[in-house]
Amino acid sequence: MPLVTTKDMLEDAYKNNYAIGAFGAHNLEVIKAVIAGAEKVGAPVILQTTSSTYKYVEMPYLIALAKTAAEQAKVPVALHLDHGESYHIVMECLRAGYTSVMIDGSSLPYEENILLVKKVVEAASAVNVPVEAELGTIGGVEDSVSVKEENAFFTDPKQAEHFVKVTGIHSFAPAFGTAHGKYREKPKLLFELLQEIHCSTNIPLVMHGASGVPEEDVRKSLKYGIAKVNFSTELKDLFAEELRAYFKDYPTENDPRKYFLPARESLIKLVEQKIVMLQK
Ligand code: 13P
Ligand code: ZN
Repeated sequence: MPLVTTKDMLEDAYKNNYAIGAFGAHNLEVIKAVIAGAEKVGAPVILQTTSSTYKYVEMPYLIALAKTAAEQAKVPVALHLDHGESYHIVMECLRAGYTSVMIDGSSLPYEENILLVKKVVEAASAVNVPVEAELGTIGGVEDSVSVKEENAFFTDPKQAEHFVKVTGIHSFAPAFGTAHGKYREKPKLLFELLQEIHCSTNIPLVMHGASGVPEEDVRKSLKYGIAKVNFSTELKDLFAEELRAYFKDYPTENDPRKYFLPARESLIKLVEQKIVMLQK
């Protein structure tokens, strides 16, 4: 099947209290593992990249990989721009063939964030691509987005209601206690706040920074409108750990067709486990 948008998959998940896994797709090995993991569960899946990833892989290669993955896959696959930092970057992705985009104006003053998001929604809607946006600030580090814990602030439900209404976005990323990267201590998710945001926005919600969030917390959030869950750090950690372990055992191995295999296999299991956790 060709790449699909995230619109139908997120709406179905939102209505039925489950979530779609969205995984940072950094290279061929990760893309293949994400698809294989999703196929094991039989669930739709989102491959997502930041702009640094498509610059690293190079756009024509990335698009070819994602399209081929979707065509070969036995499950629906979407290609999503994660934390798009400008209108220009979103346009580049729309032109290239992304089927879903996030515009991240969360560091801008409120009115500027609205203007930017509206402009993106108008352009993306013209080509039927749904838009995710964020309000409040999710702490931690995600590629070019870096927010110190003390500068992270939570989403205000009333402002979220206004933001969703005036921008026309299709999914919304609230700040309710998750953070990108590694947690120094157990994350404290604000479920009451999430519940208020759920009631005031009425569109699919996105959990950023899901690596390291305990399973019971992820599952609880599904009751309050979380319909897309983003994972990146745990995948990167596992892949790197597997490579380090491999080279410890086989220090002279030079064949990427061999040394990537255990990393890919472990990643498939991790992706499968994460998607199972997001099921109803
Ligand atoms: P983690 O790297 O903490 O899993 O966060 C992923 C994310 O939110 C991508 O946008
Ligand atoms: Zn994120």
